Amino acid sequence: MKKIQIINGPNLNLLGKREPAVYGSASFEGYLETLRTAYPQCRIDYFQNNVEGELINKIHEAGFGACDAIILNAGAYTHTSVALHDAIKAIQVPVIEVHISNVHAREAFRHVSLISAACLGVIAGFGLDSYRLALEAIMAPEPIIKH
Ligand code: DQA
Repeated sequence: MKKIQIINGPNLNLLGKREPAVYGSASFEGYLETLRTAYPQCRIDYFQNNVEGELINKIHEAGFGACDAIILNAGAYTHTSVALHDAIKAIQVPVIEVHISNVHAREAFRHVSLISAACLGVIAGFGLDSYRLALEAIMAPEPIIKH
């Protein structure tokens, strides 16, 4: 069974209530139940925190074999945090960066990610389905096209 750690950063505890026109009206907890039901072959652990250092602590905890991959939505820290970049570089498990919104279609300050270069890949703009697409990437037995 694959073990996946989802980590959500600041303000993502407010999903469902926060700017529904941008982030939708579903809570993450409800979505997580749907995801777990759709992927019984995975163990999906979930952590959310609004504090940068707590996200780093969780990345360290998960990043040395406690899971097979991390799906990370770092929220606004995506655009500001060298410390998160370094934490992702420091660990051994792959990290997929996800965003609910299409950050490239929004304000210019969201066009820069300080963490993308440390991540395996980036999925953005598919609503909550961005998490499922990241899970699919992790679960794919083999890439259909090899680089
Ligand atoms: C976000 C995009 C970020 O720019 C923003 O600060 C968030 C959420 C997203 O999932 O679309 O908090 O990461």
